[in-house]
Amino acid sequence: MAGVSGPSEEGITWAHNAPLHRLNSMGLEARARLLATVASEEGLIRFLEWAQKTSEKFVVLGRGTNVIFAEKSLDAVILHLNGDFARFTMKAQEILAGAAALLARLLQNARKANLSGLEGAWGIPGTLGGALTGNAGTADWTIRDCVEWVEVFDSDGIKQRLTASEIGFEYRRSTLATLGVITQVSLALRADSRNSIEARIRRAQERRRSQPRGRSAGCVFKNPPGDSAGRLIDAAGLKGLRHGGAVVSSEHANFIINEGGATGSDIMELIEEIRRRVYERFQILLEEEVLILRSSKS
Ligand code: EPU
Repeated sequence: MAGVSGPSEEGITWAHNAPLHRLNSMGLEARARLLATVASEEGLIRFLEWAQKTSEKFVVLGRGTNVIFAEKSLDAVILHLNGDFARFTMKAQEILAGAAALLARLLQNARKANLSGLEGAWGIPGTLGGALTGNAGTADWTIRDCVEWVEVFDSDGIKQRLTASEIGFEYRRSTLATLGVITQVSLALRADSRNSIEARIRRAQERRRSQPRGRSAGCVFKNPPGDSAGRLIDAAGLKGLRHGGAVVSSEHANFIINEGGATGSDIMELIEEIRRRVYERFQILLEEEVLILRSSKS
């Protein structure tokens, strides 16, 4: 029963065999065994009770801008937040935001209010929760730089507020995914002049200029210490390498573009071939930066 809602409970919408094309920037036509969309904390608590009762493992998915679905049919339970979780309020030098709020909207609102701290997020797609999970950023800024605190719900439905120093943030990683479901975040910003904010946004725009516009999940591999995955893939001569509809971008070699009809397995094959050929050439083993989602039982 494609996309049909299951038992309707306040704050949760269930969909079986749910299409995921709107939940991934790569444009993959995958389906999930079960997609639960929750719109409020009450709905989330009910979902967590259900997951505990049924012993179902689940994965939280925001806008899927850093995710590859490895299979067409994912035997997995996906939790997606919206409704209350997409809201945010601007305070004097703080943004209080739900995990489903889009980073780009937060930056636009901070920019209008002459608040500095999020300029480095220019061009980073996806939700605040996703950005925090992967400590999204650039070479000189990460989302961690403006985190005051993060609220997470653990698997017992208990809410905890963690300050930035209680969360482990590393290069494109944080401990948040293991701590629970991120719900609310306080971002500490500071008042600054319009000119300085605009200058920092221009620098962020400049950095993004080398990056392709097609359907992608951003950078595929982490940069190895002291080097750049894009430079290595390029130097191995892999720009334009293709598996089905998936191709290594000719603009930036650390991006895989879905030129139309790419499947998760096309992308996985391409990732493995890139890894193998970069290793053969440079003896450097590239590690994925994107999250690969597989069936929970595979
Ligand atoms: N390069 C090449 N060929 C390419 C791509 C890059 O030779 O095809 C060279 C560039 O000329 C440059 C070096 O590699 O000398 C680094 O490239 P770039 O400045 O584009 O930065 P990056 O290390 O590839 C990182 C992040 C990006 C982030 C940019 C901007 C990672 C894996 N990537 O890219 O993040 O936007 O810096 O600061 O850390 C992402 O996380 O999805 C992402 C795209």
